[in-house]
Amino acid sequence: MARTPIIIDCDPGVDDALALLLALASPDELDILGITAVAGNVTLAKTQYNAQRILTLAARADVPLHAGSASPMLIDLHTTEVHGGDGVGGAALPEPAAPLASVNGVAFLNDSLSARPGEITLCCLGPLTNPALAITNRKNVLGDARQVVMMGGSSERGNVTEHAEFNFFVDPHAARLVFLSGAELVMIGLNLTRQVPITDARIAQIAAVGTKSALAAQQMLEVYGRGDTAMHDPCVIAYLLQPELFSGHRAWVDIEVNNAEHIGQSIVKDISEAGAANALVLDKVDADGFFELLCERLGRLP
Ligand code: BDR
Ligand code: CA
Repeated sequence: MARTPIIIDCDPGVDDALALLLALASPDELDILGITAVAGNVTLAKTQYNAQRILTLAARADVPLHAGSASPMLIDLHTTEVHGGDGVGGAALPEPAAPLASVNGVAFLNDSLSARPGEITLCCLGPLTNPALAITNRKNVLGDARQVVMMGGSSERGNVTEHAEFNFFVDPHAARLVFLSGAELVMIGLNLTRQVPITDARIAQIAAVGTKSALAAQQMLEVYGRGDTAMHDPCVIAYLLQPELFSGHRAWVDIEVNNAEHIGQSIVKDISEAGAANALVLDKVDADGFFELLCERLGRLP
């Protein structure tokens, strides 16, 4: 089977780190062309460093890592403490085995997508600043992606405010640009990811895999899995690997950028109401199948 070429845009982040490990453990299905880091859960300096350390943990420091934007488009960066101060729950990860490939992740996105129109799947695990900045460089750049699969938003309640999910709250203007871009979008929001919560039993299931990567995952999850958290970002990669675990419906999604109380909210309307759709909104996942996949793949890594 042909491998799917992907680029992963991320802000590690414990669940981003888990998503990276899942992708890195799946070379038969996924051809990772590069990773771009963005500020979000923690500062850019920390997200890029964490991504480098995850690549090293997985013995895949050959994958090019590009630093992207250090702040949202129009507002100040809002970080979070849920991933611990360092973004990876204080886990003992190895030091980077390779330097950054570049500090211009936005140019990397632009160049890669335009070089292979219709081929590359862009996986977005953090605030959408990097792809939105790519749009400001070239309006139809995301139209060159085969699809953009993102973790963000919610058709139910949020997790930063009652209305907004973290990634869209951090850069609502970027999210709005992406949803109005006309690209093939797949939205994986909290309404779906809350079906794969992190529980003690799931952490034990991961720890039982026993590889260095699985034990690092356990360390990270011991810190991250203590609040209103779930396996948000790994769902993006799991969807590429086993789409049959997921189901959803096409809908029109817009992002609130004006009303202060609702800022960053994803407003999901049925086609019957909106008259058109701009995204596939996933709403159901097979939780046991998801964790089975994750554990099986963590077992393939060092
Ligand atoms: C999203 O916010 C971040 O904290 C996680 O990494 C995930 O991407 C969940 O709302
Ligand atoms: Ca993330």
